[in-house]
Amino acid sequence: MRRKMIAGNWKMNKTIQEARDFLSKLQHLEPKQRARVVLCAPYLSLPALADVAIPPVEICAQNVHFAPSGAYTGEVSVEMLKEIDVHMSIIGHSERREYFNETDEALNKKVQAAVKEEFEVILCCGEKLEEREAGNQFQVVEDQLRADLADVKPEDMYLVNIAYEPVWAIGTGKTASAQDAQDMCQHIRRLLAELFNETVADETTILYGGSVKPDNIAELMAMEDIDGALVGGASLEPMSFLKLLDYEV
Ligand code: PGA
Repeated sequence: MRRKMIAGNWKMNKTIQEARDFLSKLQHLEPKQRARVVLCAPYLSLPALADVAIPPVEICAQNVHFAPSGAYTGEVSVEMLKEIDVHMSIIGHSERREYFNETDEALNKKVQAAVKEEFEVILCCGEKLEEREAGNQFQVVEDQLRADLADVKPEDMYLVNIAYEPVWAIGTGKTASAQDAQDMCQHIRRLLAELFNETVADETTILYGGSVKPDNIAELMAMEDIDGALVGGASLEPMSFLKLLDYEV
């Protein structure tokens, strides 16, 4: 059975102190849902959070480099994250693809580097507005994932979660309809069956992201192929995040 996951992506928000305060409000929580609870924080806050986080809360980076070490100014490696007890990172977020030139080629190297070190990723994919308007959304997402997951072994796929995040829905207040999100997540699952096998397709956690809020999460989570949510804006306030964790389908 694949696990559900609710992940808050804070992006470039919260000082270390603010991050600590947020986490202290979440500790000892017993959400109604048995989903994994993941906080994706800026690098500087990761050690402070990882030191004190207790299950079900898990701490996640927002990016990681593919090289183990070397001349990559400004970057952080898998090994460095593991040293501070962070075992997961988002990769390929559309903001990183768009503003920091993160390519599918680099993402493929990141996936390979991560799984080699038993490090988990939340691999993001998603189409832009003009691509959806032209009816190319399935092809765009498929092309991204084929490139990002090239040469990854089926037995390593337990370390890969996929987040479908249509670019036009991120931070815009425009959520994809639950049906459109479901259709894409189902398409992704079928692609995983083709690229790997039925077990990988069945067991991979696929998240939807893009203007998920307490009042629309239940509808999304009710969809068969949506196993979780990657949430930006609505994850910044503890009360709002707690409501997301208590969604009722
Ligand atoms: P949003 O961001 O929930 O603010 O739309 C989602 C994301 O970028 O992961």
